[in-house]
Amino acid sequence: MNESQVVVNQAIADLQREEGALLPILHEVQDRLGYVPKDSVPVIAKALSLSRAEVHGVVTFYHHFRQQPAGRRVVQVCRAEACQAVGADALVEHAKQSLGVDFHGTTEDGAVTLEAVFCLGNCACGPSIMIGDDLHGRVTPERFDALVKAARK
Ligand code: FES
Repeated sequence: MNESQVVVNQAIADLQREEGALLPILHEVQDRLGYVPKDSVPVIAKALSLSRAEVHGVVTFYHHFRQQPAGRRVVQVCRAEACQAVGADALVEHAKQSLGVDFHGTTEDGAVTLEAVFCLGNCACGPSIMIGDDLHGRVTPERFDALVKAARK
């Protein structure tokens, strides 16, 4: 049994008796592995007496869940209203172009994964981004490039 199977089985054992266990299990798996492996879908479905399609549907519906491992650094760009009002859409386009990936994509060197997020609690200082656990406000395209460059080191 590989590490991810151990994690999935443990999450199921710990949480399957909870009401609405699917989301807690998926969160636990992603928190521990960084993503929800495709081969965990039938295992979780069987444990919860759900169809594979139901579990797959939840994994793909919520942007939070990743189906591939993330890059070494995850860059989240806020797309919520307050940040949009101060230029988040332009920053998103810049981020995609600069990194050469779409949301959920990882740069070819495996260094950076780009994700959308809906509010980082930093609304007064948008556009906001998070790199790993570090929050940054008033991010211009130039500052975005500098922050990402520093995070790659
Ligand atoms: S709207 Fe972007 S941090 Fe709240």
